[in-house]
Amino acid sequence: MSRPRKQPSAASRIDELVDELNRHGRLYYLEDRPEISDAEYDAMYRELVALEANNPELHRADSPTGRVGAPPGQGFAAVEHRVPMLSLDNAMDSAEMLAFDERNRRALETEGEIEYLAEPKLDGAGIELVYQAGRLVVGSTRGDGRVGEDVSGNLRLCETIPLALRGGSQSGERVSVRGEAILPIAGFERLNAARLKRGLEPFANPRNAAAGSLRQLHDIDRDRLRSLDFRAYAIEEGLPDGSKTQFEVIETLKAWGFQVSPDTEVCKNAQAVIRFHERLLAGRNDQPIEIDGTVVKVNRLDLQRELGTLTRTPRWAIAFKFPPQQKTTVVEAIEVQVGRTGALTPVARLAPVHVGGVTVTSASLHNQDEIDRKDVRVGDTVVVQRAGDVIPQIVMVVKDKRPKRTRRFKLPARCPVCKAATVRLEGEVVTRCPDLDCPAQLKNNLRHLASRGALDVEGLGEKLIDQLVERGDVKRLSDVFALDTATLTALERMGEKSAANLVASLERAKTTTLARFTIALGIRHVGEGVAELLAAHFGDLEPILAASREELEAVEGVGPTIAESLAAFAADERNAAEIARMRQLGVNWPAAERAPAHGDALAGKTFVVTGTLASMTRDEAKRRIRAQGGNVTGSVSKKTDYVVVGTDPGSKATKARELGIEILDQAGLMQILAGSHPNR
Ligand code: IVH
Repeated sequence: MSRPRKQPSAASRIDELVDELNRHGRLYYLEDRPEISDAEYDAMYRELVALEANNPELHRADSPTGRVGAPPGQGFAAVEHRVPMLSLDNAMDSAEMLAFDERNRRALETEGEIEYLAEPKLDGAGIELVYQAGRLVVGSTRGDGRVGEDVSGNLRLCETIPLALRGGSQSGERVSVRGEAILPIAGFERLNAARLKRGLEPFANPRNAAAGSLRQLHDIDRDRLRSLDFRAYAIEEGLPDGSKTQFEVIETLKAWGFQVSPDTEVCKNAQAVIRFHERLLAGRNDQPIEIDGTVVKVNRLDLQRELGTLTRTPRWAIAFKFPPQQKTTVVEAIEVQVGRTGALTPVARLAPVHVGGVTVTSASLHNQDEIDRKDVRVGDTVVVQRAGDVIPQIVMVVKDKRPKRTRRFKLPARCPVCKAATVRLEGEVVTRCPDLDCPAQLKNNLRHLASRGALDVEGLGEKLIDQLVERGDVKRLSDVFALDTATLTALERMGEKSAANLVASLERAKTTTLARFTIALGIRHVGEGVAELLAAHFGDLEPILAASREELEAVEGVGPTIAESLAAFAADERNAAEIARMRQLGVNWPAAERAPAHGDALAGKTFVVTGTLASMTRDEAKRRIRAQGGNVTGSVSKKTDYVVVGTDPGSKATKARELGIEILDQAGLMQILAGSHPNR
């Protein structure tokens, strides 16, 4: 018996797709290190679905279309989901969204409009929380949808997961709540920076970082788990009797003490959903978390039941995706920059591409390990991505498109600026130029000294600094304070007037504060916050530089890395000579500035600053709070005393309200700083 002949390409293409999708599924779910973008995965998946539909006899038993996710990994106990955790079908554009609505209307045999609940599609890890007698008993990952992993221990550390349900009405009954654990973008960036420093591979996106965080087995990073946000969106078991709509489900979740997405909206028809989606997309980059589309659910629960579910997806819901924020482009060159600390950073120059609202022309490759891992070469086609405020990243190389005769990239053996032999210390990921007088380091140190957070020297810009260093007018940092109008007028595009102005602003900058001067020295790891702490604790520069590591570490907020860096700086005689010369040339910080007018009036108080303030930058507000001994943190918790809120504040303000924390506007903050706030 001969089977009807199918196009040979269909069979082999299906084989290819199944193998590839299974491989990428493993990388994504089990190893948290995807090699391709979601958009590419989705495209392959859809192609497979279409091919299988036309060639049912070619459907392979191990096809990913037959399952929901990936099986649970090793190391965590398995948890069975009594109600399977489904996945969502995608709508890639408005036409597909309208088709979804059309299907629903046909299936429900209605001419009328269907009401939908629209909410952000959160880019995190799907979680199920089970409560018994109102107390959290198990929290698990989605796994393959039927069986997940018991990550209760880790989930209990998330501050936004209620350990007990508010309102005891459902006591005795089993309740299961579904939602998403997400790592806010700021936390994601911090985590990746820390991972890179430790020589670890950065997470590709906040979702993988959230999943990776929850599946930590050893060396649990508690802070990372605490900073995970949990947003609830469904109740699978224990739904209060009489609930009629998805919107009521959200209300119940709120009443139980869960955080839900603030932008959740009932839309009266599909057109309204499309408008919601467009608004969400427009505000996408202002959100503190990563959102990759709109989840659209039929609002009435009876209609949801009537529509029912397929094997892996419900018919009544769809993920209306945003266009991808990933693009491919070509690496035109790899340049090496020398930073303020002598670190050599390889930077890929890219053919310009528009990704996530900005044109990307370069991306840092961080260090040699990162280059080796991704094997990025000049001429390569690469996938670049941008998520929210995340700096552009090269996700992967499209190896198929690699031109012939490319070479692996190696950081140079000599500093591209001063030609000193570069070094990479045992156990470090960074390659450095060891020469402290390297013009590249000097230029960067000067830029730093002149910057707003340091001495704020008006008129001393990048081009001028380049000239001053290249002509040898400034050979060491302190030389900048010895510049006179005669030297300056010799520079390109520098008239007598601008020269006199620059001399005047240098003169002004010489009188500063201890904290600003400490920042200006450009000591590694000593930024604004640390400098304020040191200034408040020691009162003058000599005791800071004379302090032992133990004494430094005794300052709250100063850890071993900072202490070591300060000690190394203090131990180098050249630095002491530089500081002495700057003082000789007139740099000073009046004693009055050492002890701020209100001293430690805010000691022990913790602030969070969010949104755009009326007339001051967030950094300025933070500096002023710290100057009075106050603590500033990035996320709102029960320990927060005040949340300073500007316009467009996002989720922190919501959370503050939920926790009943006092909210201040800029005027309120000013009152507190002036010591005249009633609650101070
Ligand atoms: S509802 C059957 N709502 O997206 C209903 N899911 O691609 C599925 N997700 O597994 C869950 N935001 O982990 C729902 N507002 C939201 C969501 C959401 C993100 C995740 C969830 C789900 C996956 C499906």
